Amino acid sequence: MFAARRALNTAARVPTFGSTTASRGLKVLAVLYKGGEAAKQEPRLLGTVENELGLRSWLESQGHEYLVTDDKEGPSSVFQKNLPDTDILITTPFHPGYLTPELFEKAKNLKVCVTAGVGSDHIDLNSAVKKNVEVLEVTGSNVVSVAEHVMMNILLLVRNFVPAHEMIERGDWDVSQIARNAFDLEGKVIGTIGAGRIGFRVLQRLQPFNPKELVYYDYAPLPEAAAKEVNARHIKDLKEFVSQCDLITVNAPLHEGTRGLINAELLSHFKKGAWLVNTARGAICDKDAVAAALKNGQLRGYAGDVWDVQPAPKDHPWRTMKNPLGGGNGMVPHYSGTTLDAQLRKTFWRITLLVKPKNLPISLLVRASTSRSLTVNVNNRTTPNYR
Ligand SMILES: NC(=O)c1ccc[n+]([C@@H]2O[C@H](COP(=O)([O-])OP(=O)(O)OC[C@H]3O[C@@H](n4cnc5c(N)ncnc54)[C@H](O)[C@@H]3O)[C@@H](O)[C@H]2O)c1
Repeated sequence: MFAARRALNTAARVPTFGSTTASRGLKVLAVLYKGGEAAKQEPRLLGTVENELGLRSWLESQGHEYLVTDDKEGPSSVFQKNLPDTDILITTPFHPGYLTPELFEKAKNLKVCVTAGVGSDHIDLNSAVKKNVEVLEVTGSNVVSVAEHVMMNILLLVRNFVPAHEMIERGDWDVSQIARNAFDLEGKVIGTIGAGRIGFRVLQRLQPFNPKELVYYDYAPLPEAAAKEVNARHIKDLKEFVSQCDLITVNAPLHEGTRGLINAELLSHFKKGAWLVNTARGAICDKDAVAAALKNGQLRGYAGDVWDVQPAPKDHPWRTMKNPLGGGNGMVPHYSGTTLDAQLRKTFWRITLLVKPKNLPISLLVRASTSRSLTVNVNNRTTPNYR
């Protein structure tokens, strides 16, 4: 890290790659979501097309070209048309530019993919490894924001909040209709699939509610002191884990081992009437199996902000699914990790490419406004996951 900092101070304005000096600035392409009027009125919405992550003037002053778009689908989209000569691709999980193996073949100049957030499953990591493209994300930047959203989801499901509020908006008043499906969190068994940075923070936040027990399923057990701090029991078998929980929250990344993990078969091992909260990735749950389980009461509620393919199609079943009593749906668009506080944490960067000796791969330094500098690589974590 010290070597990296020294290099930052002395780095040439136009960076070099390996042993070859770049004769031009770099082409940086960012795929962000459209902010419209909200972004014009709220400049802290940095992750929008309008506010460009706050990087334009700095990147241009360094001699780089900066192209920002929200147009990401299909071969004639700005994203796909510009990929062949893009050097650095910046994307976010909120409006993901899906970088498939086929698109990797077209991205001949691509050297680095930066995820402005946490979770790089929209980038085909196998192709990235094959093509020697570095994939980096701003690890930890929004984990508190997501953990708080998980807490909100847990409470709104358990307390049957959404139908109660909708009733009030309609002008109705029927306490028993709501209370018949409202519970307390106290005394429940609550479990997280994934006890990393977010999962651990959720466990911390659940403790004061006096649950019957906190449990977790993760192939990387928490360090002893951390498990003791949150008083959480590790359950190694997934079916046994789900069968013991009144409420399950998913806080694991999407990868080959978690895609479709929560499917009809696993749901059949859930306690009847359990709640499920998923702010990790939509594709970890089978959408039709979840909708069916909610409809028949196997699940009492499902809440989260992540969808398989975003933006979610208008007819996605999770938009309107309900439990037999007409509630149990806490779905929102993907925003838990992009609160204004989270945006400030993850977007005031300075991105600097460092010259490395010989032909070693490029390293990208993501420098936060706090002057804390960190290099992060999704395949090479340097800190324990839970912190
Ligand atoms: N909704 C949002 O806005 C938002 C924001 C940030 C992150 N996320 C999602 O949350 C995920 C977790 O983030 P984090 O910062 O806590 O990551 P992390 O790497 O700190 O923790 C992930 C944990 O999941 C565990 N894990 C991996 N595969 C597993 C499996 N098959 N079964 C059980 N556990 C498994 C890992 O061992 C690790 O402990 C991200 O990968 C991302 O997809 C969503």
